Amino acid sequence: MLDSGPVIHEFDAVIVGAGGAGLYAALELARDGVPTAVISKLYPTRSHTGAAQGGICAALGNQEEDHWEWHMFDTVKGGDYLVDQDAAEILAREAIETVIELEHLGLPFNRTPDGRIDQRRFGGHTRNFGEAPVRRACYAADRTGHMILQTLYQQCIKHGVRFFDEYHVVDLLVEDGLSRGVVAYRLADGALHVFRSKAVLLATGGFGRMFRITSNAHTLTGDGLALAYRRGVPLEDMEFYQFHPTGLAGLGVLLSEAARGEGGILLNGKGERFMERYAPTLLDLAPRDVVSRAIYQEIRAGRGVDGKDYVWLDVHHLGRAVIDEKLPDITDFARIYQGVEPYTQPVGIQPTAHYAMGGVPTDVTARVVIDERNTPLPGLYAAGECACVSVHGANRLGTNSLLDILVFGRRAGRDMARFARSTELPELPAGDPAERVRGELDALRSRQEGEPPARIRKELADVMMDDVSVFRTEETLRRAQGVVRELKERYHRVRVQDGGVRFNQDLLEVREVGYLLDIAEVTVAAALARQESRGAHYREDYPARDDTNWLKHSLASRSDGGPLLRYKPVTITRFTPKPRTY
Ligand code: FUM
Repeated sequence: MLDSGPVIHEFDAVIVGAGGAGLYAALELARDGVPTAVISKLYPTRSHTGAAQGGICAALGNQEEDHWEWHMFDTVKGGDYLVDQDAAEILAREAIETVIELEHLGLPFNRTPDGRIDQRRFGGHTRNFGEAPVRRACYAADRTGHMILQTLYQQCIKHGVRFFDEYHVVDLLVEDGLSRGVVAYRLADGALHVFRSKAVLLATGGFGRMFRITSNAHTLTGDGLALAYRRGVPLEDMEFYQFHPTGLAGLGVLLSEAARGEGGILLNGKGERFMERYAPTLLDLAPRDVVSRAIYQEIRAGRGVDGKDYVWLDVHHLGRAVIDEKLPDITDFARIYQGVEPYTQPVGIQPTAHYAMGGVPTDVTARVVIDERNTPLPGLYAAGECACVSVHGANRLGTNSLLDILVFGRRAGRDMARFARSTELPELPAGDPAERVRGELDALRSRQEGEPPARIRKELADVMMDDVSVFRTEETLRRAQGVVRELKERYHRVRVQDGGVRFNQDLLEVREVGYLLDIAEVTVAAALARQESRGAHYREDYPARDDTNWLKHSLASRSDGGPLLRYKPVTITRFTPKPRTY
């Protein structure tokens, strides 16, 4: 047995995940005097926000003319018109005050010579509705996410937020249509803790570990999405998964788009600047779906480096001063992991699984909604990569992710504070609220025979990479569906090697594989159903976008027979869908 009974905590607000979205929400709550706990499976400063590199965009206009309307338009067009435009308007408008608040909280941005926040180019960000690239990304060298994380964490500590580090949330307490708290597993001793709370925010990040080549940390296993899905919340737009064009070849480690924003270029194995063929206006700064497809098309045509599955990213012409000041981390990654010197040599890159556009559906105040009529589930919130509000539609623009986590993390905090003031602490479910999950964990730990989880995790990552990545067809998706089903079956017989209670990472990794399997099943089902190509979802058997039939969001709900799909309309306010060219 793991323990005899759970430890019970009570907080007005509980936040699951300590990346940018969770910390900004916590800060808002704490500044408002709301007793708040942040539960994180990591130490907060190790959250994946820290791996975000190139910048956070806002139409400050510090370098050249810019307007939030241009930003909104780029976001909508970049998302191939699947973006909810009311949310995109909020994102682009509130970007400006959000970045300025970050500056006031102490974030050390790079500066212009006259002391304002410096801004650089990034993919898909343009002036005057698509004319040419614009400098919109505010940045701190190539470690912007790291700086955001440190800044917000310090502020949370200053304002008295309670942190529960190395606690894994393993269940959501939802009963009679109301969120009542969460159950967490303390890594140090295996004890279960119940957090009773008026408002719960899921801010658990993405699930890039579903793929073999990924920029995502080992911990990004979709925990929040899977837990919500298991408690009856549908998942939205899961067929849209972004591959970042420039992962370090063979490893997937992110090499920021800032390299191209600063003037770096992509070259194929023949030394050609191939983006001229695919995006004649924006070239290397086209959105990521366009660039990733172009790279694969070059590779398929035998124009990868030495006929292999990667191409070059070249920054040598920027000179040492720019490289050292603006791209220090990623050029070090190239030196360390590839043994190349970016001052003089190109770096081998390939697309890497990077970001989920889909997730737990929310409204613009980050409240989780559970159906096509956007009915809220009282007390449950989601923000950041695990959520789908939807500002990214079918394809996210670079630097809109740090912005999303902050704008909607902050909005979540504000609405949670309002909600907490308007309601009493909910009753916990009768009996032992941790009973269900305790049973699951006990069953896993006591199984004597079975296969190790690592094999299932590897086979899942392989099939998702080979059959559900940048290009998809009915055939590849059906194959993946079969493999995922078989892996789910095998998962019922998975074995945990470590039978102990102290720091039992093995047990938690098995849980994480289970989350990945659930999410992969949904991703494949939604991708199979969508018979068109839009943004990051490219069906070679349906290569055209089809607004007549598919300008709609998918919602996948759990059922015994697998994911059930329904659809809801896209909110269109200012920009009518048009063909997308760059
Ligand atoms: O390329 C990058 O620096 C990544 C940024 C992002 O995903 O927004």
